[in-house]
Amino acid sequence: MTDQMKSGENTRIAINGMGRIGRTLLRLLHQESLLKHVIAVNDIMPKENLIYLLKYDSIRGAFNAEIISTQNGFSINGHEIAYTQQAEISKLNWKFFSIDLLIEATGLFTHSTEANQHISSGAKKVLLTTFGKDIPTTVCGVNHLEIKPETQIVSPGDCTINCVAPLIYLIDQHYGIESVHINVIQGYTTRQELLDAPYKGFRRGRAAAHSFIPFEVNIAPVLETIFSTLNSKIESMSTRVPVSCGAMADLSVVLKKHTTAEEINSVIANASKGEMKKWVSITYDPIVSSDVLGNPHASTTDGTLTKITNGNHLRLLAWFDNEWGYANRLLDWIHLLQGYF
Ligand SMILES: NC(=O)c1ccc[n+]([C@@H]2O[C@H](COP(=O)([O-])OP(=O)(O)OC[C@H]3O[C@@H](n4cnc5c(N)ncnc54)[C@H](OP(=O)(O)O)[C@@H]3O)[C@@H](O)[C@H]2O)c1
Repeated sequence: MTDQMKSGENTRIAINGMGRIGRTLLRLLHQESLLKHVIAVNDIMPKENLIYLLKYDSIRGAFNAEIISTQNGFSINGHEIAYTQQAEISKLNWKFFSIDLLIEATGLFTHSTEANQHISSGAKKVLLTTFGKDIPTTVCGVNHLEIKPETQIVSPGDCTINCVAPLIYLIDQHYGIESVHINVIQGYTTRQELLDAPYKGFRRGRAAAHSFIPFEVNIAPVLETIFSTLNSKIESMSTRVPVSCGAMADLSVVLKKHTTAEEINSVIANASKGEMKKWVSITYDPIVSSDVLGNPHASTTDGTLTKITNGNHLRLLAWFDNEWGYANRLLDWIHLLQGYF
């Protein structure tokens, strides 16, 4: 156990939003014997529906624990978690539960004025589960040390930036980058439609399980903020595909130096054995997207698909589990922030 964890032994955690990410995180905390830290959760669904969705999960399978409804919430293998069903962020009362760390997993409250409402309600710190509208993004393994003990709101970005930022960091360090194009190919999420419906970005409203759907994503400007020397050198998009989970980042990079695919793979392999081992990994097995489910890394480079053309044009493909991998990044943040309570 790290010193940070020891000092945060009594950290009290609450989760707002028990959707895919909230429930995946709860499962991970259970698996890591850290459930004792979870004191309360909030969502808008009835409690019995949450218990059902915790017990039975189409992607993760059955929850390996006894989950029972109690007077104030539910218990998991005897550990009681309070449940509130409150849609209005201003009416939440984290002071009542003495919450240290509030994990904001609705995806709705990403402006600092909204996140600050959790602080006003009694939480000491807030960990978002996506990009903050006006909060700088900090990615584990890249710029997480920018977070100071006094920082109250942390935005860890989303699963895609957690996959690509450590890879861009490594490639830029070793070869220098002229330009990058990223396409993140990802399974659908609840922020898409099951059947065609109106939506402000028209394509996002198309039936999620029926087509490949190109999406605009905002990871390029965030990456350019993290890597200031790459300003105006990054383009990004996402393609949503008809699978329920699993993702792959497809990076096309023009390097400043010539190299080989073997060298690129060995840079990533070395990083995966050193201080980036939690975040970066590499496989030479001929895997497909379902094989990455349950993988805790932020990225698993597919070594057999790394290619170099013309000496300096790199094509790199990296798999990630957009739910389980991302929940592991939230766990990294919980460990880090526990040191500050
Ligand atoms: N899914 C992924 O792969 C992934 C990966 C990385 C990051 N993220 C980010 O994580 C966040 C959550 O994503 P998700 O996939 O977990 O979404 P989700 O499954 O839709 O979960 C959000 C949950 O919050 C509930 N909710 C809605 N309004 C609420 C309110 N006012 N108060 C409390 N709860 C409320 C939703 O209920 P209803 O369903 O009834 O609306 C739902 O249960 C998003 O910002 C997303 O970008 C997602």
